[in-house]
Amino acid sequence: MQYYFAPLEGITGYVYRTTHHAFFPGVDRYYIPFAAPNYTKHFKNKEKQDMDPANNAGLHAVPQILSNKADETLWAIEEMADRGYEEINLNLGCPMPTVAKKKKGSGLLKYTDELDAYLSGVFEGLSKRDASSPDVKISIKTRLGTDTTEEAEGLVRIYNRYPLSELIVHPRSQKDLYRGKADREAFLLVLRESTNPVVYNGDLQTPQDVEEIAEICAREGRNMDSVMIGRGLLADPSLVRECRGGAKVTSQELGAFHDALYKRFQETLPGDSVVLSHMKELWFYMGNLFPDGGKCLKEIRRATRRAEYEAAVRVLLSTCEVH
Ligand SMILES: Cc1cc2nc3c(=O)[nH]c(=O)nc-3n(C[C@H](O)[C@H](O)[C@H](O)COP(=O)(O)O)c2cc1C
Repeated sequence: MQYYFAPLEGITGYVYRTTHHAFFPGVDRYYIPFAAPNYTKHFKNKEKQDMDPANNAGLHAVPQILSNKADETLWAIEEMADRGYEEINLNLGCPMPTVAKKKKGSGLLKYTDELDAYLSGVFEGLSKRDASSPDVKISIKTRLGTDTTEEAEGLVRIYNRYPLSELIVHPRSQKDLYRGKADREAFLLVLRESTNPVVYNGDLQTPQDVEEIAEICAREGRNMDSVMIGRGLLADPSLVRECRGGAKVTSQELGAFHDALYKRFQETLPGDSVVLSHMKELWFYMGNLFPDGGKCLKEIRRATRRAEYEAAVRVLLSTCEVH
């Protein structure tokens, strides 16, 4: 089984990715949160930094594009290919209402003619690249509908028209956001119908969850070669190691990971309040490792100064056990 770290905008930037890789090696691919090209054909500084190969040294990183315009996407693909990326992922999953309203991410899925025209423009453009251009593979990360996962059947028919290296499926609709359960029936439908290799993504929190999804696929006569994990890995950064039969993170190890990240955030982010808000967002997930840590986690959330924050983290890690 191959394990992919899902892109999580605002969290898994290059500082997080490289620090995670240093402490918890074993993730096969890290997907870079989306870059959103526009008519100016410039990446934002943050996007450039995040896809800079020097900031992703030693990782297998895959950049991602969020767009609904073939020309802008083709421009971004060339930029990424020039930086040496061999796989580029198209984001058809983002559920944020501001994005979806513009018919981007999972907001494009219900406009099937526009989705098809977008993909057709991208693949036609790629077929016209000159022979000296570096090879690129295109993968897609998708939800299974805008309004409902019943849109899955129509979507897979469209995706089947294009040679994708992988179709990564998060079986929720845009309207679902992150509510309820991932729709495994809709996923299985895609798995059965897709002519492109399919990767499962959604709600994998434990090694047992990964085993279960692999078993469900095996019952359909399909091997699941790869899974993508997002929030589960934020909550437990050792999750892939555990899936490979290794040990769960200890408080001490989490402390070392935390300290390295905290230091690098201080070096790269503008000011304490931005650093603390990044750290608190991580604790929103990692806090789940400490079922008895309620009081300490509350202190972490309430901290407004570095000294308060650091003291609260020290108390949590020295008095509470990871479970
Ligand atoms: C804070 C946050 C940011 C995200 N950013 C992106 C993104 O940049 N690109 C993308 O394709 N998906 C993004 N996602 C979706 C995740 O990659 C993933 O598909 C989703 O969380 C479901 O997987 P999980 O249950 O393993 O977390 C984001 C999700 C969250 C919670």
